[in-house]
Amino acid sequence: MNFEIQKLSLAHAIQAQSDALIVLWPSQTVPNALGHDPLTRWVATAIENGDFELKAGSLMMLYCQPGIAPRHLVVVCSADNKAEQIRSAVQAAWGALKSAKVKHLNLHVVGDATPQGLQLALSSLADASYSYTTTLSKPKTRLLKQVFVSAENSTPALENAVRHAQALVSGVELAKEWANRPANYATPTHLAQAAKDIAKGKAFKCEVLGPKDVAKLGMGAFMAVAQGSAEPLRFIVMRYNGALATQAPVVLVGKGITFDTGGISIKPAPEMDEMKYDMGGAASVLGVFKALSHLKPAINVVGLIPATENMPDGLAVKPGDVVTSMSGQTIEILNTDAEGRLVLCDALTYAERFKPQAVIDIATLTGACVIALGAVRTGLFSSDDALALQLHQAGESSGDTCWRMPLDDDYAEGLKSRFADVANVAGRAAGSVTAAKFLQRFTQKFSWAHLDIAGTAWRSGAAKGATGRPVGLLLQYLTQLAASAQPSVSAKPRRTATGKTVPSANRAAPQPKARAARKA
Ligand code: BES
Ligand code: MN
Ligand code: ZN
Repeated sequence: MNFEIQKLSLAHAIQAQSDALIVLWPSQTVPNALGHDPLTRWVATAIENGDFELKAGSLMMLYCQPGIAPRHLVVVCSADNKAEQIRSAVQAAWGALKSAKVKHLNLHVVGDATPQGLQLALSSLADASYSYTTTLSKPKTRLLKQVFVSAENSTPALENAVRHAQALVSGVELAKEWANRPANYATPTHLAQAAKDIAKGKAFKCEVLGPKDVAKLGMGAFMAVAQGSAEPLRFIVMRYNGALATQAPVVLVGKGITFDTGGISIKPAPEMDEMKYDMGGAASVLGVFKALSHLKPAINVVGLIPATENMPDGLAVKPGDVVTSMSGQTIEILNTDAEGRLVLCDALTYAERFKPQAVIDIATLTGACVIALGAVRTGLFSSDDALALQLHQAGESSGDTCWRMPLDDDYAEGLKSRFADVANVAGRAAGSVTAAKFLQRFTQKFSWAHLDIAGTAWRSGAAKGATGRPVGLLLQYLTQLAASAQPSVSAKPRRTATGKTVPSANRAAPQPKARAARKA
């Protein structure tokens, strides 16, 4: 999908060829019945006759009208052109065009639009027109190919928003694609290949570790989850170096359970197919890297993906087994279905070697988080208030929202074990918090946040499908950080979409020496 933007008056916008034109009309802009273009005159007449009110969501359609080049025209009131209003106006207009065959869409903004609103609108158009096709024998190809934005007052900030939207959508759609693929089309090996393909560019590196490498590192918790599967595990290490090597990276850790049966603590059959989405965290890391390859912000980012299936088998790990994690802590695996925290804890220990400025893990970790927050907000857990605030704000401004949850030490009581340093489950109460408390034990050496996306990574039911969340949140966080950090390696000054800056928690730290490439 391709986005472009140009400065145009309304009179010119209606003469530009396309299948459909959506005009966003703010409440404050009262049309003049003597307007120079036919559209302004029609809107004025409709208002005069009481057929079109200048309030949010009011909508009017025209078809094949003289003086208007596109076949379909939708005029929609976008109230005061605030971000959320622009998004919902565009959504309503696109809904009205449902049965129209729109390949090329023009979107015209009357008056000033907030860049953030335009970005939201474009990504929601992409979302509404997306469809998964990979494993269909007769794929219906996507109709909407191009959105051409025109604005009377096109500004550099708006142009930047379009550039961001383009990168964001490519990242979100890559994340959706990998999350939607069935587990037999998205094995750990497939994910590793996808990571390598994304990391082909100049500023990128990708290293893939296999079972022997992971054993050498002592990742006993990760290995325990993988030991019941016929598919070999993969530990994927991606790097993006957009800033000087002296700048400490942000590490993203994505849970990559390509299928979660629960293992010996097996899950019930209904909806078990949805556990193909248990690599949604990994998919979001791949998506972020894809977006970084478009935007090339001045920042260093590491992506870590522990990828494996969780299967029951004669060799599978059993409830009560004790394993030794890479950190040296022993873990009593009381429930083999609490496998996400087991693969993540070793990846978190691995993250220490990057001397990161922050580590963020992203995981479809607990059903309890779905109970707590539903499909609206991602669960945010962090021991660092500044990091939590930055992530919360990135969620608000990208529309990919999250909500902070507590981490009081009292919640860790239930994780005590008589047979190991820690158990992998506590009781039923506050399940998303006790999972986060387990992870926190492995994060003492850096600033850390955990995003539980169990409720937000995919939709169930008739509209079943991946959402691509939280690529939007993470990309917003990273680009804001880049804007507020030290000068980039390429000396060009960079703009941000909003021009806002966030307090930087940067501590310059030396990069670890490059390690010899390893393979399975
Ligand atoms: N992948 C699941 C979490 C999940 C379940 C996400 C349903 C979305 C929908 C995770 O591995 C899991 O099974 N967690 C258990 C933990 C429990 C055994 C403590 C859960 O949430 O039931
Ligand atoms: Mn599980
Ligand atoms: Zn899981």
